[in-house]
Amino acid sequence: MFERHQGGDSAVLVCLDFGEPDYRDGVEEFVQLVESAGVKALVVIEGKRGRPDPAYFAGSGKAEEIAETVRANQAELVIFNHQLSPAQERNLERLVQCRVIDRTTLILDIFAQRARTAEGKLQVELAQLAHIQTRLIRGWTHLERQKGGIGLRGPGETQLETDRRLIGERVKRLKGQLATVQKQRATQRRARERSHQFTVSIVGYTNAGKSTLFNALTKARAYAADQLFATLDTTSRKLFLDPEHSVVISDTVGFIRALPHTLVAAFRATLEETIHADLLLHVVDVNHPLRDMQVDAVNKVLLEIGAERIPQLMVWNKIDLKDLTPDVERDEYGKIRAVRVSAINGTGLDLLRSAVVEAMSLPIEEHTST
Ligand code: GTP
Repeated sequence: MFERHQGGDSAVLVCLDFGEPDYRDGVEEFVQLVESAGVKALVVIEGKRGRPDPAYFAGSGKAEEIAETVRANQAELVIFNHQLSPAQERNLERLVQCRVIDRTTLILDIFAQRARTAEGKLQVELAQLAHIQTRLIRGWTHLERQKGGIGLRGPGETQLETDRRLIGERVKRLKGQLATVQKQRATQRRARERSHQFTVSIVGYTNAGKSTLFNALTKARAYAADQLFATLDTTSRKLFLDPEHSVVISDTVGFIRALPHTLVAAFRATLEETIHADLLLHVVDVNHPLRDMQVDAVNKVLLEIGAERIPQLMVWNKIDLKDLTPDVERDEYGKIRAVRVSAINGTGLDLLRSAVVEAMSLPIEEHTST
């Protein structure tokens, strides 16, 4: 049903600076996101603005520059690192003569490529339909105004009305299916709660190594790939830490900076396991140049979903790339703050297991920021 950009597309990227302090980090993350969608980033066009232009988002001079760059590079796609209104998208498409998509569409597309469980797929499709619906409605009023409705409101239904009706029906069906899946999940969770099973949720910025850690700990084979957002759904497994202790551990979706709000809402349910966890393992790629920004971004999403009070154990991952030794860091009270591991080599995982056992025996207290 959806037009998806196929792998191999080449795109001109547009990032405008509205004076955010972390603008530069955002540009770097955007290029990674685009590449992780399987799109070749040809050029990044940047500019400074006070506020978006109503017609083209960028100013008309900048919009011309985008059009010229598209022609010169024979680009197939323009991707904005911003949210565009349906009208801006249409105006830009007319000017640059190729498809123009915004950040939300890009992220939805990546989500759609990566969703694996029934619940994840349903959520992505619902979010895509919601995004498309606003575009269809505005597209319709736009046509009505231009043509005064003549020829569009004949005796039969117009194509747009049919499309809207079909989308509405599909949304209803998807919501029903999603409710069923979520009910099952809630039942499972309640059963775990009744048996007082300690639950651990792995969280972290996308590509930090969450799935690799989950696999290494549980020896399950959740999908691990060197792409952003390889994991979209929560997967839970029982993990035996030592002869006396076991927990239920869940892998979660990769977090990113500035996740569009509509998407946070759509994925809140996916993150239910996280909201109900007793302990969070916050995985960080120690080598990443933007790792502090990534830790902050994850904590912001945790705040948005209401999981900011759950105790966190930081897991500094990928120490093999820096030749660091596995270790446990403690604060001045002797409480474990972080464990250094290499999920890929398995080094430090014994320390991590003991650290989780230690955390289980602590009274649950609030996490006081990193
Ligand atoms: P999302 O699902 O996108 O959120 O990613 P993730 O956090 O689950 O990361 P994933 O486990 O898919 O790992 C991302 C990449 O990092 C993969 O190429 C892994 O092989 C690599 N990786 C994970 N752990 C380590 C590690 O300890 N050392 C090294 N060198 N690479 C690692």
